[in-house]
Amino acid sequence: MCGIVGYIGSKNAGDVIIDGLSRLEYRGYDSAGIAVISEGKIDIRRSVGKLKQLVYQLSKNELKGATGIGHTRWATHGKPSEENAHPHTDCSGKIVVVHNGIIENYLELKKRLVSEGHKFKSETDTEVLAHLVEESYKGDIFKAVVAALSQVRGTYALGVICSDNPGEIIAARQDAPLIAGIGDNENFIASDIPALLPYTRKMIFLEEGDIIRLSASKIEVLNRKGEEQKRKIQNIAWDAVQAEKGGFKHFMLKEIFEQPQTIQDTFRGRMNPETGKIELGELNIPVEAVNNLSKINIVACGTSYHAGLVGKFLFENLAKIPVEVDIASEFRYREPIIDKNAITIIISQSGETADTLAALKLVKSGNCRTLAICNVMGSTASREADDTLYTRCGPEIGVASTKAFTGQLTALYLLAIDWASKRKAISKEKAEAVIKELWEIPGRLNEVLKASEDIHALAKEFSGKRDFLFLGRNVNYPIALEGALKLKEISYIHAEGYPAGEMKHGPIALIDENMPVMVIATESKVYEKILGNIEEAKARGGTVLAIASEGDTQIKAKTTRQIFVPRVDEIFSPILNVVPTQLFSYYVAVVLGCDVDQPRNLAKSVTVE
Ligand code: G6P
Repeated sequence: MCGIVGYIGSKNAGDVIIDGLSRLEYRGYDSAGIAVISEGKIDIRRSVGKLKQLVYQLSKNELKGATGIGHTRWATHGKPSEENAHPHTDCSGKIVVVHNGIIENYLELKKRLVSEGHKFKSETDTEVLAHLVEESYKGDIFKAVVAALSQVRGTYALGVICSDNPGEIIAARQDAPLIAGIGDNENFIASDIPALLPYTRKMIFLEEGDIIRLSASKIEVLNRKGEEQKRKIQNIAWDAVQAEKGGFKHFMLKEIFEQPQTIQDTFRGRMNPETGKIELGELNIPVEAVNNLSKINIVACGTSYHAGLVGKFLFENLAKIPVEVDIASEFRYREPIIDKNAITIIISQSGETADTLAALKLVKSGNCRTLAICNVMGSTASREADDTLYTRCGPEIGVASTKAFTGQLTALYLLAIDWASKRKAISKEKAEAVIKELWEIPGRLNEVLKASEDIHALAKEFSGKRDFLFLGRNVNYPIALEGALKLKEISYIHAEGYPAGEMKHGPIALIDENMPVMVIATESKVYEKILGNIEEAKARGGTVLAIASEGDTQIKAKTTRQIFVPRVDEIFSPILNVVPTQLFSYYVAVVLGCDVDQPRNLAKSVTVE
């Protein structure tokens, strides 16, 4: 998730673009850059760190020109550095590109381009676009962009300028957001509405496959054949704060709704449903090391720890590798036995949690191989671990983690399937089937999100309760823990997550009409057992809310309220089942008037012990 802005008109493009990028920093902030056409030449400035670093650089040496493109980056391919910051240029330095998205086949394209003499200056996937445009450029930049795009597989929102033609910007969209803004003898492109609000309220939302040619006086929306496409001009009434949250009331809700996209971003280019293969090219773990793994230790804190608990089921079930999961603050002080044939996976959204980093240091001192699952490129965890598998969720702003959790689960699915295949713990057919099902998960999640208003109604009904019990079993026990954590974090209601089978060893004593029970009861091998647990809770006067599989009539008869989710293989149920618990906590907090995005006493990243 990065932000792009482009301007063409009579103002100083640099000023408009920097201002626009400053409103898109929530989309990424590890580096930034800008290119303008100045007296027929491209002038580029780039800088690592937040946008203010770039602004400081520009204050010393101003940019001049009326056509330009800019970018604020959230790294996915290549660490945050000046070389990897956008814009990227071709060999001649005449063609410049900014890009948000992922070019899946960039390695093979890069190999070919390098063999043909192209000189690459960065580690990014984006740079191949600049060289592909260069390859096809014969004086018409629009045609060259179309030819370049016909060779790439992946997602993109793209802005391209060429010094031969200072009066034009070319932009394109495929599975990544892009809008065009219409001004008075000036026009704009941007990843998102907030960038353009001070300049225009008239916007065109581009559709998949659109490619636009922008001059100061005209915006042409075309398809790949150059045929004109009719797109509506919308008048945006949002204020700046509403716009930054994409029209959602809180970042948390926006992030919950982003999950179909962020899950897809995390697996894109890393698995292929046609070949049934997982390719985690960024990892340097030899097949022999995977085959010789004696054990996996997973270490994390908070929500990331709950993802680790799901990971245990995945690695044991699919790859048949024993797994131990630890809370980092416990692990670091309990003198764990560190086995050289084991691997330690640390999971951290931020990559900066103090206890998790201390645990990482400890296992490294014992010469154990380490792997980080992390969302922030260049974070301490990613620098310290032997290998890093990034979740590509973009910045998570709500303190209560949502999209980072499902991104972590996605990364764990990829690893578990990959290692299971390498160790021949699953057949080729099984691997193919599992990959196909993972591919379908974003679509299924969209179905779950449609229940949002029903869950809102449920939240209104139950927001007066002071205690809640969440029950789950097997691979959904961690989801009971995560559901309870979310409710505690943002609504300050006391909630406990429990393995349903343990209920009779204590918590059952608490159940009465004042303590509702949310049971994760989707189809699984422990379904009958869960039904038994539901009966036990009901017999004590408990009100039971169930998260259940679509069309389950038994559950309907046995529970007070139900939230239905699509049927999926049991191993994928956690990634769907967690979403109703996120929505439920969110709406309860809203009903109670709590500060959802910044709950009291909590921090997004706990960098002290
Ligand atoms: C804090 C956050 C949680 C997060 C936990 C671990 O408690 O509020 O949302 O799960 O830290 O953070 P990490 O960045 O290591 O995943």
